Amino acid sequence: MSISPSPSSSSSSSSSSSSSSSSSSLESSNNGKTWIINGIVAGIAIAAAVGAHTYLNRFNKFRSRVVGIIPARFASSRFQGKPLVQILGKPMIQRTWERAKLAATLDHVVVATDDEKIADCCRKFGADVIMTSESCRNGTERCNEALQKLGKKYDVVVNIQGDEPLIEPEIVDGVVRALQAAPDAVFSTAVTSLKPEDAHDPNRVKCVVDNRGYAIYFSRGLIPFNKSGKVNQQFPYLLHLGIQSYDAKFLKIYPHLQPTPLQLEEDLEQLKVLENGYKMKVIKVDHEAHGVDTPEDVQKIESLMRERNMS
Ligand SMILES: *[C@@H]1O[C@H](CO)[C@@H](O)[C@H](O)[C@H]1NC(C)=O
Ligand SMILES: *[C@@H]1O[C@H](CO)[C@@H](O)[C@H](O)[C@H]1NC(C)=O
Repeated sequence: MSISPSPSSSSSSSSSSSSSSSSSSLESSNNGKTWIINGIVAGIAIAAAVGAHTYLNRFNKFRSRVVGIIPARFASSRFQGKPLVQILGKPMIQRTWERAKLAATLDHVVVATDDEKIADCCRKFGADVIMTSESCRNGTERCNEALQKLGKKYDVVVNIQGDEPLIEPEIVDGVVRALQAAPDAVFSTAVTSLKPEDAHDPNRVKCVVDNRGYAIYFSRGLIPFNKSGKVNQQFPYLLHLGIQSYDAKFLKIYPHLQPTPLQLEEDLEQLKVLENGYKMKVIKVDHEAHGVDTPEDVQKIESLMRERNMS
């Protein structure tokens, strides 16, 4: 999707061809010199028009080059080899990848892993794989390393977590478009309605946003806190979903920002973004989270897929 090289080459070729063709075809009726000058003027006009067009195109397609990265590691304290677990006969990582491939905004989807078994499996079903080092401490760092290793330039990176095999491509597109539409944000992510029974589960991260859809805070505790101390059944609490997209320039500095007090206290990486004063755009989506964190979750997701006749 690189738009910069082609217009400049076409403008130079159009200016040279217009000057040469006009000077040859109109020599008889006109003074050649005049036409060469006119040709150059026309060439400049064409170049200016092409330049303006390029500028407008760029402007319209702010952050246009987008890569989806699925970070996957084999070692996991809770679930060894999780990306390769079979879900109704297909490896979980393949299901995530197939969903990601359906997203309209992604120019490229890659799996980033430090594990040869995962890499082999992914290459077999046709995925592009970037090998990342074992020193990556988490998905964000893996995405950053993969971005550096990708030959091409990208403006936006979507971190698609491999343990959400039922992620809707529309959600991927939603976070990308949110970041494209919010130049003042460096990060975008998605939330959905929190189920009341999850209100006090610290593994379900809650979020509050301002009236323009920018994140104010994330917490493992229930936010906002009702004065009564109880869950307010009327309040539309928000549950944070794992998907996030970053401005590529921001992703390069993100892993190097020092840990911040709120981040450390809540053990929530994304708080570092807010504590450093960066803006984060949040979209609300309809999505039932079916994250696979433990082997028991596999049975849950399989029975749900059977119920819905998904294969
Ligand atoms: C707290 O929750 C109750 C419902 O449980 C609601 O009526 C009330 O407006 C909420 N806010 C405050 C400040 O009590
Ligand atoms: C994960 O990566 C982020 C961003 O680089 C970093 O702030 C955070 O400390 C890392 N988390 C762990 C557990 O290493």
